[in-house]
Amino acid sequence: MNILAVESSCDETAVAIVKDGREVLCDCIASQVDLHRIYGGVVPEIASRKHMEAIYGLADQALQQTGLSREQIDAVAVTYAPGLIGAVLVGVNFAKAAALAMGKPLIPVHHIRGHIAANYLAYPQLEPPFLCLVVSGGHTMLVEVQDYTKMNILGTTLDDAAGECFDKVARVLGMPYPGGAALDKMARQGHPEKYALPRSKPGENPYNMSFSGLKTAALNLIHHADQIGEELDVPSLCASFSQAVSDTLVPRVAMALEQTGYRKIAVAGGVAANSRIREDVLTAAKKMGAEVYMPPLSLCGDNGAMIGAQAYYEYLAGNVADMSLNAYATKSILGEAL
Ligand code: KG4
Ligand code: ZN
Repeated sequence: MNILAVESSCDETAVAIVKDGREVLCDCIASQVDLHRIYGGVVPEIASRKHMEAIYGLADQALQQTGLSREQIDAVAVTYAPGLIGAVLVGVNFAKAAALAMGKPLIPVHHIRGHIAANYLAYPQLEPPFLCLVVSGGHTMLVEVQDYTKMNILGTTLDDAAGECFDKVARVLGMPYPGGAALDKMARQGHPEKYALPRSKPGENPYNMSFSGLKTAALNLIHHADQIGEELDVPSLCASFSQAVSDTLVPRVAMALEQTGYRKIAVAGGVAANSRIREDVLTAAKKMGAEVYMPPLSLCGDNGAMIGAQAYYEYLAGNVADMSLNAYATKSILGEAL
């Protein structure tokens, strides 16, 4: 089954064609990052307009690259939530029009379920159930993937997402948006023990986490050094910060492996590209005898292929939409009715 998948929830316009949820036939992306960089973050209206300009050309490019005709496309899938609402609407409208014009089913896909499904593309043998640590620009949660379309949230951030904090700290250190990857690179030359930064303490639900205290502590440290004219060891600050984020995430992963008995842990989302987190998850999982699944860096950030992968399983579960499909800025991953 060839699924044409559309993703436009933030600052990447993406169209992919994925076969049977596992094989990427093409993955076309038009990134807007350079455009938003001058503003230090995504400007929603600009994002929507750029999606509008890019989306048709990308779909055409996807068909040309694969040599598939419109008749050989079996369904159209689209990210319908969550994201910047104007941006998601562009993709949803395009997908509705494409599905209607081609007479094919329309499959709505939750963006975070898509991130999780990036693992199916990287590991053809991976099947649920497994645990998944989702760490992206807007979401941070520990999910039990009981089946392809059945999830349970063990814990979630109570305030900021991990990616948001990486970007904020990077920005204050003068790195261009989105600074997560640059901060990660810088951290590799530093000492993670040099600066003392707080770790999120377990609350009522020990799987929940918090990043705002850590973010504020890092920002205060930077501003204070600036005020007193102290020169910071930036690589070590980046390393200490990355370690504090990882120390908030990874013990919860280890606890979940221990308490649930799952023996497979996947990571997903843009921040899953972080080298400290990848290494620490690997070490923790190895100690517990668990298998680790991590998408290659190219599939960690937003892309269309991950939406095509999840769409296949949504389709098999009967989750198709009609022309009344709407877009949502926020929606739970749990899959309540549309
Ligand atoms: O999943 P994603 O592409 O978009 C959302 O769905 O939010 O995640 C983007 C986030 C940004 O905050 C970006 O800075 C962060 O992922 N990111 C990283 C790394 N690469 C991307 N954060 C830390 N280390 C990285 N290597
Ligand atoms: Zn994303």
